[in-house]
Amino acid sequence: MTTSNSGSLGGQTVLEARDVAVHYGGIKAVDGLNISLPAGKIAGIVGPNGSGKSTLLAALTRLVPLTRGELILGGRPYHHKAPHVVARHGVSRTFQTVRLLADRTIRENIALATDVRRVDKPPTRKQLEEQIDVAIERTGLGSLQKRRPDEVSYGVQRKVEIARAIANNPTVLLLDEPTAGMNRQERNQISELMVKLRQDGLTQLLIEHDVQMMVDTCDYLYAMNFGVLIAEGEPESVIKDAAVQEAYLGTRGSKKHA
Ligand SMILES: Nc1ncnc2c1ncn2[C@@H]1O[C@H](COP(=O)(O)OP(=O)(O)O)[C@@H](O)[C@H]1O
Ligand SMILES: [Mg+2]
Repeated sequence: MTTSNSGSLGGQTVLEARDVAVHYGGIKAVDGLNISLPAGKIAGIVGPNGSGKSTLLAALTRLVPLTRGELILGGRPYHHKAPHVVARHGVSRTFQTVRLLADRTIRENIALATDVRRVDKPPTRKQLEEQIDVAIERTGLGSLQKRRPDEVSYGVQRKVEIARAIANNPTVLLLDEPTAGMNRQERNQISELMVKLRQDGLTQLLIEHDVQMMVDTCDYLYAMNFGVLIAEGEPESVIKDAAVQEAYLGTRGSKKHA
């Protein structure tokens, strides 16, 4: 078993997955992965559909059971903890598909997330309202906060998901294809948002197919195929890697992700 080289970026590791596997019956969705998220950096994962990216995120948030492996947050193993406990420890995520409550306003949808109280330092009601304000301001949703999800575009709905994920002041933010279905301008806004959050020191993991966005946004890149890592390192060199090119453009790959 090899360990990740992302330590070459320097600094501390916030979250680490060691030899993590998730098997669904005979399907080895994730099959022995080592990744580490360096503090205050943006790590990325690329890989064709079905390569196990979303399953890895589900494993990191404890939403699926591990077949084997270890998860470590801030130096402490957490692979036996329940998902809500992991969330309370500051691991926040967005889902690949939009999950908003249709009969609540955008602000209410964002506020719901703050019910996950932090274990280290529970915020006061006033602090929570401020966090919601900051999340809304950051995502540019100020003028839309009283609307309901069905009154705004799909791109805006996705921004609400991100606002909800950051409203808890997470320690680690995991984003599963946050810009899917967005136009170029909206994609750039999300990329800029992630860079701003990095300036604030937030550790992030981004799953996206948009190669340009990944190269522009990520400090370190992992490439997956068939549940395992096929490359990792500096984003530009990972994208150029022969095995990564083959996974995306080879006979089995799909051109639309190139
Ligand atoms: N709940 C599940 N039950 C059975 N198989 C699953 C389940 N979720 C994902 N898979 C399978 O695991 C593999 C990886 O899927 P996924 O993690 O969604 O990949 P990606 O996010 O990279 O597209 C696929 O073969 C998929 O069909
Ligand atoms: Mg996925």
